[in-house]
Amino acid sequence: MRAAIEAAKSGLNVALVTKVYPVRSHSVAAQGGINAALNPADSWENHAFDTVKGSDYLGDQDAIELLCREAPEDILALERMGAVWSRDFDGNIAQRPFGGAGYPRTCYLADRTGHGILHVLYEQVIRHGVIIYDEWHVVKLVVKDNAARGVIAIELKTGRLHRLHSKAAVIATGGYGRVYKTTTNALSSTGDGMGLALSAGAALMDMEFVQFHPTTLPRTGILITEGARGEGGYLLNSKGERFMEKYAPKVKELASRDVVSRAEQTEIDAGRGVDGCVLLDLRHLGAEKINERLPQIRDIAINFAGVDPIEKPIPVRPGAHYSMGGIMTDVNGMTAIAGLYAAGESACVSVHGANRLGGNSLLDAVVFGRRAGAAASEFCFQTAFPEFPDSSLKDAAHEVADILKRDGGEPAFIIRGEMTAAMENSCGVFRDKERLTKGLENIRELKERYKKVSLSDKSDCFNTELLAVVELGNMLDVAKAILIGAVNREESRGAHSRTDFPRRDDEKWLKHTLINKTNGELKISCKDVTITKYKPAERKY
Ligand code: FUM
Repeated sequence: MRAAIEAAKSGLNVALVTKVYPVRSHSVAAQGGINAALNPADSWENHAFDTVKGSDYLGDQDAIELLCREAPEDILALERMGAVWSRDFDGNIAQRPFGGAGYPRTCYLADRTGHGILHVLYEQVIRHGVIIYDEWHVVKLVVKDNAARGVIAIELKTGRLHRLHSKAAVIATGGYGRVYKTTTNALSSTGDGMGLALSAGAALMDMEFVQFHPTTLPRTGILITEGARGEGGYLLNSKGERFMEKYAPKVKELASRDVVSRAEQTEIDAGRGVDGCVLLDLRHLGAEKINERLPQIRDIAINFAGVDPIEKPIPVRPGAHYSMGGIMTDVNGMTAIAGLYAAGESACVSVHGANRLGGNSLLDAVVFGRRAGAAASEFCFQTAFPEFPDSSLKDAAHEVADILKRDGGEPAFIIRGEMTAAMENSCGVFRDKERLTKGLENIRELKERYKKVSLSDKSDCFNTELLAVVELGNMLDVAKAILIGAVNREESRGAHSRTDFPRRDDEKWLKHTLINKTNGELKISCKDVTITKYKPAERKY
């Protein structure tokens, strides 16, 4: 939506194609905040250093500098659009401490920050006359001669396929958390944009870096914001020990997410967990602070864990949360395909490297969404309308008809269930060659079975079974890209923690992983990391 607003402001005709209603996009679930060095005692350079260190030195430093330099103005732009923030006593936008940050720089709206921002962006989308095709799902990016020509989308209400002919397209489809069994992500986070871009010829970058958020509820995977630790919450093991003192003596619970998740998993694996979890204790914050700063967290804990955090600690565990990798772009969201752009979690600029800092994802979406929208408009003004290949709609129609007419195959949910289990078992907080290779074999086998998947619902109207099949195709490609990258990277860096290669190895692996699809096969290559002024150093918290 941020990209669409920027493009519409330039006077172009802009359409937003979205498989869910826009305010149901997963950003609505972002809780704890968005980072910007607003306070004069802080600086964008400090923010940039924290982000580079958090990325375990894999983030491109030119892009990180740009993100942090432009952050304050983007927060103020949201404010001018009408975004509501929690305030300090002087009426300034309140900022809380977050993991890996040397200063309290996370702006927030209690524990509903994404909700606040998303609704304001939606108002602006309407105000700027953006046409919204909601509950339309893109099944193909149309690319010819390495130039984007538009998309083909299925209108879920009617089952009809439509061509949307455009000079440029911006992918902003979010992450792929749903390739894992337990995730903080919405049901819609199925990595569609990454799968579509890969099939259209764009590269995916650094897909092996999957963020496991340290505080998610068991079973449901619902997020308990890092803001809970930012406000002073403790993590305890079964012995009642504040175990983070051992793993990050200086900042404890406010180490970066990869460090905290590994610490929790180590405690659980050593038998010091509580039913596969550790405990998040907020009791000492008191009822007033919990009700003011973390009201949604209290509701979630009561409704989904049966625990009132004013009275008892919340059981939490690491859960799949965020994709540091994504569609490779430059700082203007441009991919290697002319007219094709990407932004937000679906993209990899790369500002998060091997581990993202909490509060930098909404920021990434807002800063690079704006930049991608502006760059795509510029491209449109300079480019003639490309021809839309006639055959592409027919080909897509044949592909959909072919899925609908198949009988006797497995249903998609069986394959999806096996895929999510394979990812959970093989590519979690800790990884090793044996498990990763087995996971990859599983996914290869599931991809073969996917070719014969069939549907029991053959109808046109809201055929969600058909949607599930289309999503599954993208998810299997994404899962395979994650595993190929993870098997290949023989070191531990950020969220990629190999028990068989426990050290970071800058000599061999200070580089990005690229995945391309060539003749249906995924091929791996690499790319240098951009270093400006922050020399790679050992990370300590
Ligand atoms: O913990 C959280 O509130 C999540 C924030 C984020 O992923 O940036």
